[in-house]
Amino acid sequence: MRGQKSNLKSSIGFRGVLCSERTGLRTRLWLGIFQVCLANDIESKYLERKDYLSRYAHQRMVQKREASSDPSQEYGSEKAWSRALKEDLPRFIPFLQKKCGVEFHGRILEIGAGGAWLSGELSKLPRVVEVVTTDFSSKLLKEHAPQVFKLLKAHTSKITRMPADFHEMGFRTNYFDFVVSSSVLHHATNIVQVLREVKRVLKPGGRYVAIREPVWPLMKMKSRSKRSKSGPGGLPVNTYTLAHYKESFKQAAFPLEVKRVNLSRGLKYYVDKMVNGITHARFAFIVIKRPVTHKTTA
Ligand SMILES: C[S@@+](CC[C@H](N)C(=O)[O-])C[C@H]1O[C@@H](n2cnc3c(N)ncnc32)[C@H](O)[C@@H]1O
Repeated sequence: MRGQKSNLKSSIGFRGVLCSERTGLRTRLWLGIFQVCLANDIESKYLERKDYLSRYAHQRMVQKREASSDPSQEYGSEKAWSRALKEDLPRFIPFLQKKCGVEFHGRILEIGAGGAWLSGELSKLPRVVEVVTTDFSSKLLKEHAPQVFKLLKAHTSKITRMPADFHEMGFRTNYFDFVVSSSVLHHATNIVQVLREVKRVLKPGGRYVAIREPVWPLMKMKSRSKRSKSGPGGLPVNTYTLAHYKESFKQAAFPLEVKRVNLSRGLKYYVDKMVNGITHARFAFIVIKRPVTHKTTA
């Protein structure tokens, strides 16, 4: 009887624990959902900065960029921009993860972010803790980025926006796990300086991933006179050959790995694969900051 009582007690106790555990689990689940909703609902932080332009950029360049900063102009129409945001651009991260073995995590810096679609997409990855989103235009960061984050359902509580010139950013050395950029390097006044700066702020073993850089394909090599044109906001655009990019990375002592990018599907995938580099050129640049190895003397 005593045994039965204690059995009953322990079973009640056990059920009690189970019950409270279940309730606890349910509460935690709701709390989690609530936190995720909240995280996506709050505005990302914005840090004001003054005198952030280096000697490689000028206030006039920023003003020019801001005067025509509407991304739908760049993409031809509002509809085309919205389609790119929802369908085309989000294909990059799965491609980088699956085809290039890039596992984004930790603290990430985006340079030349503009409307910041890449920051928005990266913020949704579970292993990404923090995203610092920079551009030399504060207007783009303040007005466009929040709209893009909303559209992409970004995890805004992880994101901090702040103006910075990618030639000299003022961040601590060895600070970021990743630096990323989309369609940015060819706008640099001094590309080698940008690469040196990116390398400086990366932690040893950290990676720089650059996507959507225009590369001059083989079939257009002869018409090099057309290489310099105007980009968004009248910014100068340099279309470099792959050899030129490789040389710039070499000068920055940043060993480059070039990956062919192909986001097409079905038959188009195979056609694009064959002509990549010839009629058009789509590459991703992935660079690792090698940890410094100290030679031991015998
Ligand atoms: C072609 S847009 C790319 C924007 C965005 N990353 C994207 O994929 O849509 C290039 C961006 O680089 C920025 N930029 C140009 N020069 C810069 C500089 N010196 N420092 C920081 N950002 C700069 C421009 O403001 C612009 O937003």
